[in-house]
Amino acid sequence: MDILIIGAGAREYSIGLALNRDKSVDKLYFAPGNGATPNLGENLDISDFNELANFCEENSVDLTIVGPEAPLVAGIVDIFEARGLTIFGPSAKASQLEGSKIFMKNFLARHNIPTAKYIETSSLEEAYRFIDTMNSPIVVKADGLCGGKGVIIASTHDEAKKASGDMLSGNSFGDAGKAIIIEEFLDGYELSLFAVCDGKDFILLPAAQDHKRLLNGDKGPNTGGMGAYVPTPLANEEIYRKLKERVVIPTLDGMRAEGNPFKGVLFMGVMVVDGEPMILEYNVRFGDPECEELMPLLKTPASELFYNSAVGKLKDTKIEFYENRYAVGVVMASRDYPYKSSEPAEIIIDDIVHDELKENTHISFAGVSLGDDGKLYATGGRVLVCVGVGESIAEAQERAYMLVGQVHFAGKQCRTDIAYQAL
Ligand code: AMP
Ligand code: GLY
Repeated sequence: MDILIIGAGAREYSIGLALNRDKSVDKLYFAPGNGATPNLGENLDISDFNELANFCEENSVDLTIVGPEAPLVAGIVDIFEARGLTIFGPSAKASQLEGSKIFMKNFLARHNIPTAKYIETSSLEEAYRFIDTMNSPIVVKADGLCGGKGVIIASTHDEAKKASGDMLSGNSFGDAGKAIIIEEFLDGYELSLFAVCDGKDFILLPAAQDHKRLLNGDKGPNTGGMGAYVPTPLANEEIYRKLKERVVIPTLDGMRAEGNPFKGVLFMGVMVVDGEPMILEYNVRFGDPECEELMPLLKTPASELFYNSAVGKLKDTKIEFYENRYAVGVVMASRDYPYKSSEPAEIIIDDIVHDELKENTHISFAGVSLGDDGKLYATGGRVLVCVGVGESIAEAQERAYMLVGQVHFAGKQCRTDIAYQAL
């Protein structure tokens, strides 16, 4: 089977690694890929969806897997499917679960799926009135895609009003903020849950925990994610059961009933409040860096998960994850992340001679470029993810950090406490 992966991050690299282990996979392509994806396949310099579809037809590509949300929201799946090509991911309409927070919140309300109380508005007056009725902290969210930055947790009423004004005027996020959600603050712990869906059936994957803040102890600014681990003991059987019954099934049934069957990955950002899972947000793709820890624990050949979701055959698919195995991923970021881009810095990775480390760790590359000199450079914000696998979270964490110690580039930064909530 030949497979095209759309995207350029460590998430897509980790999917490539999993497919590389799969004996039924022959050739991998990445569009656009990054400076390290040529380790796994061929990079394509094509971004137009119709041209990508042409490429898939001409080269008999059997399956396309879409990593990030932007092409999904922009309708890549609709274009491929109209041409009879097999593609993993939701249609543009189904992607509105991530593309519009208002669509998502109203959908949750229509189907009685637990979430924070909210209003949607485009009126500053209405926003002020609602804020005055609330207790702080108050959460203000831009409707549209903002690359993970469109959420403000305001600690005072004034701050919430200012955030609403900045968004509604278009100053903070342009058109993405012309409509907003104002909602109550949920106090609990966060989990990342993933259901791979085929429109009707689904497979719930082991729960992950991300670390969104830049600094140890969950301090500092929000980022795309500084590390994650899987599975987390913070999700017990009871939570999985509640999520299936109260969230995944009503979501799939509701989307189908409304004419937008959901296939691909439903990523549930969950806050557990007093044992009850509440939906913070939906994304319509794998989490990054959560995917980088899920993929190494996948026992079933990866192509089965992606292909059978794309063709609507999950019902007859048995997907297994290694039992009693854990993965911890530590993001190594460039010096000025997440504020601004940094000067390119050469990446040097020590030879890994220790067998234990060689067999139980690997790197998923993200913001890297191959220089004319053949060397690998850190050129993005999140540069790479060091992943350790072990029979306990502590063992996986220790291995991940041993690998971090072997990777060098000027200005590198990482958290040193990934998985602390589980230890
Ligand atoms: P989102 O993009 O909606 O996931 O929001 C980004 C982050 O903001 C989440 O991962 C949470 O940490 C936080 N957050 C969002 N909504 C709420 C809420 N209602 N209560 C508490 N924290 C929230
Ligand atoms: N790790 C969070 C995200 O991918 O949005």
